[in-house]
Amino acid sequence: MSGWTKLPQTVTLSEEIAQLESNMSHWPNESSVSKQLYDRALEVMPGGITRNQPWQEPFPIYAARGEGAYVFDVDGTKRLDLLNNFASLVHGHAHPEVVEKVRERVGLGTAFTLPTEAEILLAETLTRRVERFEWVRFSNSGSEAVMCAIKAARALTGRPKLVKLEGAYHGSYDFAEVSLDSNPENWGNEPRSVGFSAGVPQGILNDVIVIPFNDVETAERIIRASREDIAAILIDTNPSYLGFAPISPAFAEMVRRVSRDIGALLILDEVITFRLHVGGAQSLYGIEPDLTCLAKIIGGGLPIGAVAGPRDVMKVFDHRQGKPLLPWSGTFTGNPVSTVAGSVSLELLTKEMIDHIGRLGAHLRDELSKVMEKTGFPGQVTGVGSMFKICGHQRPITDYRSAYHNPSEAKTLRLLQGQLVRESYHVSSAGLGFLSTPMSLDDIDGFIQATERAIHALEPELQG
Ligand SMILES: Cc1ncc(COP(=O)(O)O)c(C=O)c1O
Repeated sequence: MSGWTKLPQTVTLSEEIAQLESNMSHWPNESSVSKQLYDRALEVMPGGITRNQPWQEPFPIYAARGEGAYVFDVDGTKRLDLLNNFASLVHGHAHPEVVEKVRERVGLGTAFTLPTEAEILLAETLTRRVERFEWVRFSNSGSEAVMCAIKAARALTGRPKLVKLEGAYHGSYDFAEVSLDSNPENWGNEPRSVGFSAGVPQGILNDVIVIPFNDVETAERIIRASREDIAAILIDTNPSYLGFAPISPAFAEMVRRVSRDIGALLILDEVITFRLHVGGAQSLYGIEPDLTCLAKIIGGGLPIGAVAGPRDVMKVFDHRQGKPLLPWSGTFTGNPVSTVAGSVSLELLTKEMIDHIGRLGAHLRDELSKVMEKTGFPGQVTGVGSMFKICGHQRPITDYRSAYHNPSEAKTLRLLQGQLVRESYHVSSAGLGFLSTPMSLDDIDGFIQATERAIHALEPELQG
């Protein structure tokens, strides 16, 4: 079968009420529209999907439309979207002001070989928010932004090596993926460079040095041992796979001091954390990176990425004296649709809005912790501001190894996540969640009550 499946575009109020009352999800029924779509997808895409992270056992739930804090699937089920396309929709779905500007822009053309005013506008918006962002260079995704920043560091220093945090995710680029999912069998006593996918060349593993998050002494010693070869130290202040554990002031001070001392660049990945403060996590934690990688919320729901920093570093891209040290291009880079959506979305993300979702996040973490204690669920909830992570163990988390879930803990999380979907709440299978500005206290309270019900429903499986 091919062609568009006829979907319920809108759900009437009475349908919604009936659905909420029965609390029924059509997924994962074999007769659901999602299942039909998945069967079609299996014929034309490997494993029926085109992104790994949103995979959902036993088959994906296909989205029909989104509205504010909610997403409606193709079977008409409405769920609170606590994932927001992995943190890229800080205002939820189809914010009217973003939709209006995007619609207007699409009617004028979506991409040109000529630059447009829209790219300048977004760059101006970003430079107004962070003093250190004097110049901005766009890309199409966060992965590209990280790749671009690493290449910029190599171009500026003439050195080959990258230092990165064990377990930190920075998108799909061989160098940035090293030791992303290492495990007790291969991580070694001190972090060893472990390739993420099959076929990673040994040369890449040799050129990536992995350090433990927040272990100042070990990390400094490892970095200094290769001081002459290091182009950049790549960090994240709250790596998602580490339960958003915050960077310690001592670690932040060390990476800045040591990178200056050895002549390497400090690259801060703010692809997710830029939502934490009007000036990003660097303002929150007092970090002065040489280059910052951005993506997700700066595109207002459309694909984007960017590298930003002071002019004396960003000049690596400047073509005015001839071929730049790093020529950087992309067919859709800086396209007017993504940049218009990003400008509107960032203008709407005021301090008040950031405080609002931060308060909701604190409430969620407090109340969920109480539920876990009350029910005896073998887990914890961590996070900062509008980001949270449900963990399947209770060990204090300070780095990748303490965040690591053994197979049975990972299974506990997956079971809880699946049950939450049945309860009409979307979080990731790793327990990640990102709040959006249209959410209310009632939405969060509903989620907390649903988690309590989900834990009770899972009791037989968890105890067994
Ligand atoms: C911290 C971080 N860096 C980089 C990326 C890659 O961004 P993208 O998926 O836009 O390529 C992600 C994506 O989730 C991320 O979380």
